Amino acid sequence: MDRLPPIHQKYVLYKGVKPLRIGHFNTFSPNVDKIGFRVTEYTEDEEMEKLWAAWTHRKGGVHDIAFTNGRGPRLHHTAFWVPTPLNIIDLLDLMSTTGYLANIERGPGRHDISNAFFLYVRDSDSHRIEIYCSELSDG
Ligand SMILES: [Fe+2]
Repeated sequence: MDRLPPIHQKYVLYKGVKPLRIGHFNTFSPNVDKIGFRVTEYTEDEEMEKLWAAWTHRKGGVHDIAFTNGRGPRLHHTAFWVPTPLNIIDLLDLMSTTGYLANIERGPGRHDISNAFFLYVRDSDSHRIEIYCSELSDG
């Protein structure tokens, strides 16, 4: 893959919610317990004492890819990191005044473990997109 120069200070390119990079992917897998990434966070089924979901990383952030028990493998969502909650509020204003209100799926809200501020939206092909920000810049 070609490595591209950073565009964080090319403000003329900023559009809409102003995502600066892909933050992570979240997928379903038939057996999260057998996946061997380094885990940063996880949840466990208390009765069965097996992993229910795991947030994993390879590049040192909070997570690069997450796996949740469910019918799969299939993609749950792709997440884009933004620097502040105001980016998400700007997107909500934009979507609600330009005919995209029905594409807002869930949020804004806070994730329990990471405390990341998030919004889930559906793109024109119904793919779930998460927009999020967190103090750790990778929540
Ligand atoms: Fe996510």
